[in-house]
Amino acid sequence: MTVREEFALAVRARMPLIALVTPEEQRAEALVLRPVADEWRAGRLFVWSITEGMVERDPEGGDRARIPAPDPLAALDVAAGYEEPALFVLRDFHHHLESAAVLRRLRDLASVLPVAGKNLVFLGPRFRTPDDLEKDVLVLDVPPPDFIELGRLVGEAQIAGRTPDGLPPAAREALARAMLGLTLGEAESVLARALVRDGAITARAVELVLAEKRHLVRRHGLIECLESRDGLDDVGGLAGLKHWLARREAAFGEAARDYGLPVPRGILLLGVQGCGKSLIAKAVSRAWAMPLLHLDLGRVFGKFVGESEAAMRRAIQTAEAAAPCVLWVDEIEKGFAGATVEAHDAGVGARVLGTFLTWMQEKEKPVFVVATANQIRGLPPELLRKGRFDELFFVDLPDTGEREQILAVHLRKRRRDPAGWDLADLARRTDGFTGAELEQVVVEGLHNAFADGRRPLAPTDLEQAAAEVVPLSVTMRETVAALRQWAATRARRAS
Ligand SMILES: Nc1ncnc2c1ncn2[C@@H]1O[C@H](COP(=O)(O)OP(=O)(O)OP(=O)(O)O)[C@@H](O)[C@H]1O
Ligand SMILES: [Mg+2]
Repeated sequence: MTVREEFALAVRARMPLIALVTPEEQRAEALVLRPVADEWRAGRLFVWSITEGMVERDPEGGDRARIPAPDPLAALDVAAGYEEPALFVLRDFHHHLESAAVLRRLRDLASVLPVAGKNLVFLGPRFRTPDDLEKDVLVLDVPPPDFIELGRLVGEAQIAGRTPDGLPPAAREALARAMLGLTLGEAESVLARALVRDGAITARAVELVLAEKRHLVRRHGLIECLESRDGLDDVGGLAGLKHWLARREAAFGEAARDYGLPVPRGILLLGVQGCGKSLIAKAVSRAWAMPLLHLDLGRVFGKFVGESEAAMRRAIQTAEAAAPCVLWVDEIEKGFAGATVEAHDAGVGARVLGTFLTWMQEKEKPVFVVATANQIRGLPPELLRKGRFDELFFVDLPDTGEREQILAVHLRKRRRDPAGWDLADLARRTDGFTGAELEQVVVEGLHNAFADGRRPLAPTDLEQAAAEVVPLSVTMRETVAALRQWAATRARRAS
């Protein structure tokens, strides 16, 4: 049911008091209040605020009549004394619900208003039902604009920019999808800025959307919003994982909902250090044009006991407000290390983990979780159960072909064209190297050439650099072997 339908139902069912929670008063008026007043209250809609008194609105949203009502009790008197069925909207009334007189008057009205076909509507960004009114108030959230509304908005902006055909349908859908979670005002402001900057609505407007979401997230604290420079092209190897991700992207769209697909939940990446787990999290966000939110579990648990659960809930809310987004939970096994049975934290860790798991299982918002872990020890088994993550991937050391790709990625990143070089040979010499170590080989090679009179990089520089690295897989042979063995039967290979 849409909020308008729910609201209409409440009005018809003669709920005396209804709270509409939204920071967007005008939108709520146009989307919900006006149509319902027209259909069920003969168009009679009054809006009260402490600054303007009680104003009767005409169907076009203008003011028809103004009745002085300088305080909340006076506003309630106007509603009580009015002779016809009507909706009375009370703005910011949550500030006045502390008063005993106002509460008493509301309780009296709750029994007489329905008979006369009148409803009081509390409209504001916040509402908490006072205990005394618990049975009489229905609270409805007005959700931010949906995909269709945002798509329409993009269309209008394109016309305003005189480039109605400037954006291919897929890019238009991607832009509307990226804007999900913004209020109408924020979405309009983003599009206006795009028009000013680019002269038209182009695919680049997505950058402004992501910046707007970063501002939203920054206000909350526990979650940090990162900017990713790396796309999936900057990830060498891991073809299986990349293929899986490419097939999931479309599953965020409207067509997938209509088809009956659930929103993707997320993936857990388990693997050897330095092989690209964190890199993948960043690349996904960039490839899907979604903001990258980084949840620091250390900070969630860093608070004093008792607050951690609230902190986790708040982090989840923040992520949902920025959805669609990628939520990156790095080193999840360390974060939840305290959540095991023998933990000495009075069960706080277990409860925070429980909050997280329940959310993973039930979430409907498009928050794609990318969790990473490089140890099995400390990884709570509950995390691995079906229904939490869509898939558990094992990120192994790169094989020869993958090493070649990773070397090429890092050469290109440093504006060196690897074409014509025998990278296959270098790849064979770097058996057991992680992605991070291969990057180090490229950087070291460049240092050598630079120090040697700034001459052009030569293949021998890389060979020399590679010869000097002692790969982690050698120093940590047992750990890597144990990880592989564990993952062999439990995880899908990312390569
Ligand atoms: N597959 C890869 N393709 C390209 N670069 C890679 C790859 N794997 C690692 N790298 C390089 O190594 C760096 C470090 O890798 P990353 O941080 O993703 O490793 P990780 O698996 O998260 O390791 P850790 O377990 O230590 O967190 C990356 O920023 C990237 O530059
Ligand atoms: Mg990492």
